[in-house]
Amino acid sequence: MIFSLTEEQMAVQEAARDFALNELLPGVIERDEKQSFPTEQIRKMGELGFMGMMVDPKYNGGGMDTISYVLAMEEIAKIDASTAVIMSVNNSLVCWAIDKYGTEKQKNKYLTRLATGEIIGSFCLSEPEAGSDATSQKTTAKDEGDYYLINGTKNWITNGGTSSVSIVIAQTDIAKGHKGINAIIVEKESEGFSVGPKENKLGIRSSDTHSLMFTDVKAPKENRIGEDGFGFKLAMEILNGGRIGIASQALGIASGSMELSIKYAKERKTFGEPISNHQAIQFKLSKMATEIEAARLLCLQAAYKKDKGENFIKEAAMAKLFASEVAMHASVEAVQIHGGYGYVKEFHVERLMRDAKITQIYEGTSEIQNIVIARQLLK
Ligand code: CAA
Repeated sequence: MIFSLTEEQMAVQEAARDFALNELLPGVIERDEKQSFPTEQIRKMGELGFMGMMVDPKYNGGGMDTISYVLAMEEIAKIDASTAVIMSVNNSLVCWAIDKYGTEKQKNKYLTRLATGEIIGSFCLSEPEAGSDATSQKTTAKDEGDYYLINGTKNWITNGGTSSVSIVIAQTDIAKGHKGINAIIVEKESEGFSVGPKENKLGIRSSDTHSLMFTDVKAPKENRIGEDGFGFKLAMEILNGGRIGIASQALGIASGSMELSIKYAKERKTFGEPISNHQAIQFKLSKMATEIEAARLLCLQAAYKKDKGENFIKEAAMAKLFASEVAMHASVEAVQIHGGYGYVKEFHVERLMRDAKITQIYEGTSEIQNIVIARQLLK
């Protein structure tokens, strides 16, 4: 078992840290307040290779491993968790699916641009009545010969307003249950495609979340990813990898909370000395640090197994389940350590606390992660 990073992995980590500090930190509070999308920052991240990190270089990707992805996600999320989820969805949910299962034509047409951040993508699985119960898809993709006719509504879609292409999961043959579901690439300009109002969210506010509506949208058959009926399995496979991304986002929120707390505790004085001298604060920091280290190891283990081509379903679910709990705990404690200052925006920790909550909800709630883990244990 090797616990050290390669030089390449350390270089990626450092590049992500520099980018986050220099390009994401300025304006992060304002973007959160105004719910403004980090358009310019995402463009730069595309140039640096952060939007298609694991994509085959043949299609303009970075050709990096999942461990590098975890390291970069943590650094980005430490400073700006909204930008981290935009990055995670594009990398794990959209690029990965096309890179792994797309046709040459789909790769040349879409992946080459997604991987550079020239365009960004969204993944449309959730519906008003199909969140955790993802097999209950109501959106239909009727087979019309050369094309699919798509009708339905998708909810809570990250990158919903800004994405140029969406991977839409829809039911083609209801009699076949989840084996009648397809995954289809739909372009934003398609007739009948409309974007609902932007959701006004508790956290990750500068990421862009919308409902997407499909009314008789025609998508060419050649835009289906994988064989007929493979859509649900593909969605599950996509989410296995996606959970490593969200676990790393949660890890970044937690480690960002801790770093800010350590800095503040050394500066802030009570009873004539820095609060870092008080055992009450020291115990909070030591618990945060221990939990964060455990979360990091779970993330890296899941990434390592994925890179090795081994089954990582359980490990990814464990990483997400645990890291999201750690993010909640660390960010709440960070606000507590900061006291009254923690409750105002300038000190960043209240934002981290609001951002942490969603990591227990999207890409499978904590309850769903428990189901996934238990099924892997018992099968
Ligand atoms: N990996 C690969 N295949 C899987 C899988 C996994 N993790 N989980 C299930 N499957 C396969 C099963 O093997 C089965 O295939 P076969 O019939 O060929 O054996 C098929 O999928 C159906 O599985 P189940 O019978 O287990 O289905 P289920 O209805 O009992 O439950 C579930 C499945 C695990 C609960 C699933 O519905 C699930 O993961 N729900 C959560 C959905 C989710 O995570 N949504 C997040 C939305 S996306 C998002 O949040 C993105 C964003 O914006 C940030």
